[in-house]
Amino acid sequence: MSAALYDETMGFYANAPKIGSPDGPFDTNAKFPAFGYAIAKAITYAEKALGSHLRVLELGGGTGQLGSHIISCLENVHEYVVLDPSPGLRAKQTQRGLQAISNIDCLSPGPTFVFGNEVLDALPVHRVMGMGHDEVLELYVDLDEDGEFYEQPNSLSSLELAERLRDDRVQLGRGQVAEICLELKPFLKSLWRVVDPGYVIFIDYGDCASNLYSYRHRNGSLRSYYHQQQVYDPFFAVGHQDLTADVDFTAACFIAEKVGFEVAGPVPQGIWLRNLGILDYKGPMGEGPDQEEIDVLTRPACLGSTFDILIFKTKGISDGPGLQPPS
Ligand SMILES: C[S@@+](CC[C@H](N)C(=O)[O-])C[C@H]1O[C@@H](n2cnc3c(N)ncnc32)[C@H](O)[C@@H]1O
Repeated sequence: MSAALYDETMGFYANAPKIGSPDGPFDTNAKFPAFGYAIAKAITYAEKALGSHLRVLELGGGTGQLGSHIISCLENVHEYVVLDPSPGLRAKQTQRGLQAISNIDCLSPGPTFVFGNEVLDALPVHRVMGMGHDEVLELYVDLDEDGEFYEQPNSLSSLELAERLRDDRVQLGRGQVAEICLELKPFLKSLWRVVDPGYVIFIDYGDCASNLYSYRHRNGSLRSYYHQQQVYDPFFAVGHQDLTADVDFTAACFIAEKVGFEVAGPVPQGIWLRNLGILDYKGPMGEGPDQEEIDVLTRPACLGSTFDILIFKTKGISDGPGLQPPS
């Protein structure tokens, strides 16, 4: 999955996927200016707590559309940095005037507001299968004699996979397949180093471990998207289709706490956006709220309950709307 998405020449993200176009992945929240308005409000509340020298770090900036919307809604000029491993997408972000970096190591610790829209679901996962009696094997990718990929069970590549299931209090049934993202820990640790102090907000689809690893998802949640259509074959059009898996919110929160953050959420997107005052959004020219756009983002039947918000913050800093669970 890591190579299929991020190989420097042939990976899906290497060559700037045309997010939102008919032959690209689906549009995300990022295309809606009202969404950028709401994030800008969260940044403003964070600035009240941490001061005007607050840095904004956007994770996985996609085409840079969301970053542009946010900056257009901010009253104060902030250092706004986008971290993205995709050279093609970084080029698009730079074209929009954003500062794009490929490695977080170049950032020094400081007051920071971090957010990522649909980034955790793009981190590569391992696939494992329950064998009964607590035994778990990993599903490796191999090539058959005809040069076709297939899945081959074998012993776990890392003990961390079994540890994760234990920490999640999950026991897989015989034949049950599940995805486990081991990149969560190094990713959150790298954020902990630069967020000093500050907030980290993730907007993503996923579930708590007891649901994610239940009978309902007995084949796991790994799926692919090709030309705006869901595909059930991860080996189809490798490097040209997007691969994604639901985020394990239980693990993300557990790891964030271990790393040192205080944790809130998950909060459904619709509630979070309303709490931030999205209903006050007046449009780019102040023409009045675009009700359809706000409905799509907030209604439970639309994106309002498709996505959830995880809020992580360093200890001892104050809260505000969007930076704490809504009361
Ligand atoms: C599904 S796209 C979402 C893009 C954008 N946030 C949006 O909402 O349209 C996932 C993004 O995460 C980026 N990404 C993947 N792994 C990352 C990592 N470890 N750190 C930062 N960004 C990452 C990808 O390159 C891509 O820009």
